[in-house]
Amino acid sequence: MTTTVTEIAADVFRLSTWAPEYGIQVNQFLVRDDEPFIMHTAFKRMFPSTRDAVAKVLDPARVRWLGFSHFESDECGALNEWLAAAPRAAAACSVVGAMVNLSDFAIRESRGLADGEVLETGRHRLRFLATPHVPHGWDAGLFFDETTRTLFSSDLFFQPGEREPLTTADVVGPARDAIVEGQKGPLANDMPYTPYTDATFQRLAALAPTTLATMHGSSFSGDCARALRDLAGVVRELLNRP
Ligand SMILES: [Fe+2]
Ligand SMILES: [Fe+2]
Repeated sequence: MTTTVTEIAADVFRLSTWAPEYGIQVNQFLVRDDEPFIMHTAFKRMFPSTRDAVAKVLDPARVRWLGFSHFESDECGALNEWLAAAPRAAAACSVVGAMVNLSDFAIRESRGLADGEVLETGRHRLRFLATPHVPHGWDAGLFFDETTRTLFSSDLFFQPGEREPLTTADVVGPARDAIVEGQKGPLANDMPYTPYTDATFQRLAALAPTTLATMHGSSFSGDCARALRDLAGVVRELLNRP
């Protein structure tokens, strides 16, 4: 198992590990700063590989924050391995996630972030947005790095297969194809369409990110507001139905 490292924005590194059992890339994002931040811990079984990848950028023991969107194994399965390896590290997620899941699961206290709260890591300001049920999960949230205008978008823009680290090509089309295919399989209905789904997408678009740091597939550089509005339309078309 190898994890490849690519800088996709200034001091924002994409760590990508191939998961052959699912046919997807599992991507983490390391923000190099005074208080290093990692978005997604990836699976527990990937920990040795992803820790070695972090070590190419900075000392893994320096990691301070372990952010994620929602409680799933690819998002935070290796949380306790990271907490053991980095003595000052703590999870950072939604208040719901901290109270409902991590208060029992994590070996140390977590930081529950309110909607709109900013996590300052030094030069970077990471704004937390509570996004219940987007992409899925009551506890879901996303981080936006205001310093580099990078949105850590978790499972939004999911693209299966082996993809280039960063693209300026269309990512909405591949994400649409993946939703259509996904709805035919055993993992269908992963994203519920709720009364606040569209408003959540519009709120993300209003941030006007310049980079989308996606958990599965290529990150995207370009007009992210447009991509988010287009994906909102795709989701409305495909998922807002019985
Ligand atoms: Fe997920
Ligand atoms: Fe995921």
